[in-house]
Amino acid sequence: MDVADLRREFAEAGQEHVFRFWEELDGAGRECLRGQLEAVDLDELRSLVETLVLSEPSAAEDLSAVEPPTFTALPGHGGDEQGWREARAAGEEALRAGRVAAFTVAGGQGTRLGFDGPKGTFPLTPVRRASLFQVFAEKILSARETYGTELPWWIMTSPANHAATVAFFEENGFFGLGSGDVHFFPQGMLPAVDPDGKLLLESPSSLALSPDGHGGSLRALLRSGATAAMAERGIDTISYFQVDNPLENTMDPAFLGFHLLGGSEMSSKMVAKTDPEEKVGIFVRQGDHLRVLEYSDLPEEWMRLRDPDGSLRFRAANIAIHVLDRAFVERMGAKGGDLPVHRAVKRIGVVDEEGRTVTPEEPNGIKFEMFVFDALPRARNPLLLETSRAENFSPVKNAEGRDSPRTAREDLLRQYTRWLRAAGTGVPLGAEGLPTVNFEISPLRGFDEHAFLARPANHHLPSPAEGTVYDGES
Ligand code: UD1
Repeated sequence: MDVADLRREFAEAGQEHVFRFWEELDGAGRECLRGQLEAVDLDELRSLVETLVLSEPSAAEDLSAVEPPTFTALPGHGGDEQGWREARAAGEEALRAGRVAAFTVAGGQGTRLGFDGPKGTFPLTPVRRASLFQVFAEKILSARETYGTELPWWIMTSPANHAATVAFFEENGFFGLGSGDVHFFPQGMLPAVDPDGKLLLESPSSLALSPDGHGGSLRALLRSGATAAMAERGIDTISYFQVDNPLENTMDPAFLGFHLLGGSEMSSKMVAKTDPEEKVGIFVRQGDHLRVLEYSDLPEEWMRLRDPDGSLRFRAANIAIHVLDRAFVERMGAKGGDLPVHRAVKRIGVVDEEGRTVTPEEPNGIKFEMFVFDALPRARNPLLLETSRAENFSPVKNAEGRDSPRTAREDLLRQYTRWLRAAGTGVPLGAEGLPTVNFEISPLRGFDEHAFLARPANHHLPSPAEGTVYDGES
């Protein structure tokens, strides 16, 4: 677009200040800014500013019709064993038929972990310090072997970590998955604004942009051509998980089977929340809809409500593992995502009058993002499945304390111990159910307990000594 026209449009939208360094910019700087400005949807921005920045913050949401959700319980918790067996068989059939792809959202900024690099490259496992990406890759390799299928993997990055993520896979030979079966695409960005709704400049030639949230994955899957590539390969089912959870069970056949047999467009796993303060979104039923209330939106007194048996009333925790129907993603993506946008007040680096980027001590602006779980109320037959926390969820969020690399390593060790014991190998136990030696089982030996126990070579292994790695070799 002609710069004069662009300038006029931004002036009409009350955003002409983004051109204030224009005369001083060189050719490259002008191209950069111009490209970013052309990508701004001014109508969308206007409506976001009106509803989320300039209006009075809406009084607390009406939560009167909110109830705990119904869900499919684990067999040990009253679930129907036969139903679980049938679901597992259906999921395995879909996996064998090559109908399933893995999909990881890895575009987040990982600020809380304080790690300099894409979170998926974080060296995690107890002995090898294999990265989160390697853990997922090995699970996929194991599931491939089990089901004799390709299981391609799509990874959503952000413009900030895309190149580093791709380089990491290249340096590591794609962990043996084959470069044709691992696909990367960057998510969309949304501009940040100040409390008056004015676009913020990060530098003279760049807006302050931030990732549009994991909800942006729906439109990014479509725009990047990922869903078209999936369709070409006969894939209609997408297994979605976050980059921060080394225990995620990527290819859980029972979960996939319940999703497919239930004719669901989007299914989610849940576990019981451990304590009122745990920072997890909560699944609720509101009228006819299943939805997630983010932890910051759950009223304080609701956090502590208990059922007569003592369990938390609102306990259905979102562990961010979903199955998505490909056609549903295409439908949602075609409407630009069609999800509500949330606001987050943040400290945002902005340009000063001398053209330097300065990050203030206090929040100075508003970022916008979408959440993938907001798609649940729009999905046909959304399904909620209870799952085992110990086998599915131990996220790496913080540098220390709760949900940190230390707690994730401990949970991995507990998982290895359970699997070995089930396979007839003794493991000396110390405090808190942790083994007294540090050791590791590569996911190549089984992507889940079922797959691990199904391999005769995993039975009666030598008891682990300090530093033992049960790798892919039998
Ligand atoms: C998230 C969920 C919460 C859930 C918890 C489980 C939200 C808002 N809340 O919390 O309900 O209980 O996980 O662990 O998500 N990401 C992107 N692009 C983005 C933003 C995030 O790809 O623009 C990815 C991150 O890389 C990460 C994941 O989404 O894999 C989660 O993001 P994060 O912001 O850390 O979510 P939480 O607040 O921890």
